[in-house]
Amino acid sequence: NVGPHLSITIVGASGDLAKKKIFPALFALYYEDWLPENFIVFGYARTKMTDEELRNMISRTLTCRIDQRENCEDKMDRFLKRCFYHSGQYDSEEHFAELNRKLQEKEAGKLSNRLFYLSIPPNIFVNVVKCASLRASSTSGWTRVIVEKPFGRDSESSGELTRCLKLYLTEDQIFRIDHYLGKELVENLSVLRFSNLVFEPLWSRNYIRNVQLIFSEDFGTEGRGGYFDNYGIIRDIMQNHLLQILALFAMETPVSLDAEDIRNEKVKVLRSMRPLQLEDVAVGQYKGHSKGGKSYPAYTDDPTVPNNSLTPTFAAAALFINNARWDGVPFLMKAGKALHTKRAEIRVQFRHVPGNLYKRNFGTDLDKATNDLVLRVQPDEAIYLKINNKVPGLGMRLDRSDLNLLYRARYSREIPDAYERLLLDAVEGERRLFIRSDELDAAWALFTPLLKELEQKKIVPELYPYGSRGPVGAHYLAAKHNVRWGDLSGEDS
Ligand code: BG6
Repeated sequence: NVGPHLSITIVGASGDLAKKKIFPALFALYYEDWLPENFIVFGYARTKMTDEELRNMISRTLTCRIDQRENCEDKMDRFLKRCFYHSGQYDSEEHFAELNRKLQEKEAGKLSNRLFYLSIPPNIFVNVVKCASLRASSTSGWTRVIVEKPFGRDSESSGELTRCLKLYLTEDQIFRIDHYLGKELVENLSVLRFSNLVFEPLWSRNYIRNVQLIFSEDFGTEGRGGYFDNYGIIRDIMQNHLLQILALFAMETPVSLDAEDIRNEKVKVLRSMRPLQLEDVAVGQYKGHSKGGKSYPAYTDDPTVPNNSLTPTFAAAALFINNARWDGVPFLMKAGKALHTKRAEIRVQFRHVPGNLYKRNFGTDLDKATNDLVLRVQPDEAIYLKINNKVPGLGMRLDRSDLNLLYRARYSREIPDAYERLLLDAVEGERRLFIRSDELDAAWALFTPLLKELEQKKIVPELYPYGSRGPVGAHYLAAKHNVRWGDLSGEDS
């Protein structure tokens, strides 16, 4: 019985995110003894369910990692015994007061911290925060609330959401999740850059030709069309996940690893960028397609999506940072659903070697002989650097090879899910990987004018077949900035 008690309440416990990500992440943390000795988990949702029914529901989604097979069943049982359920309305102070009584009973008068995870649609964020903070806050320890995007649809609605949340919570209590910040390779970006002498000196317009941030999924919006149609790929992936990676990539060296120091630097990058214009983007939407006797639906085939929807399921964008380090370097983003592959990566293309002595020995054009550094965020995490080397033998023919850190070859342990790291950080009060409100404002300021223009001008997205490499508009956009998409070059590890 050491340390304070911790009560975690998952609001929206019967939803998909809770089942697929949050409960499994909590179990993984429990398995590895990361959680305080005295902790309990409460599920809260409208569905009527007993504790036993909740446990049954969660037990179906818990798994043990390969390196956690020992005592797995036993640990699962012990974890499930700490899980409870309370059914209630999301806007009922009375129901949250009932939850509070149940929490108090379990906490038995000990010093108790409370963490609420809002795994619910954004239109009820404020109601829940109001009821939870007024009726179920901890009286002896801290109370923190984790919220997931969407944080509004534009600058105004996001500002309004922040204002309403702050009626009940201080900024310190709000943990805005961007789960890409919890991914192993995204965390490693700063380690790679700041703890190796060989990268940081090259990290500028002097040596880097362009940076590409690429996200693709090989499935459509199946089942999520209702949510997606109101947001589109720019709000779903670019304004948050890819922009966060960009800010981490491009920031100046922070004073320390302290959350405020890092977030100060990220905000500076975001504020040095020019808001996006229509000519900086190409948008697409997937259309139905059949291949090998199998047919794939169009985005608008989803019954929850209007037939004439103009919502982009693909976008490519060119962004620029107007500061001394990055002036003129294109940062290209590309994000799409229903493409040919599932992948997220950061690609850095370096400049030519000036006056290259080996110009004549390249089989291909010199343009293809520059160094590329690739951080493959997923799947099959890797960091590789493309270099030029001599083909062994008596002649002098050059080749391109990869110096490759392939995680599965180097490390035998499985990589934790992003939600594990983020939940643990929220429990420990580590804010480095969460989005501060001024960061969020700066991110929206970059995208809001573009999003409005796309909607007002009813820009028609270019159709691309389900499972393809996306619309050709993305290539024109890149070509305009003298860039070739590295992921489509066909020469990857
Ligand atoms: C979410 C988006 O934030 O990220 C989804 O809303 C997307 O549309 C998901 O599928 C991708 O996350 P991951 O971790 O599976 O790459």
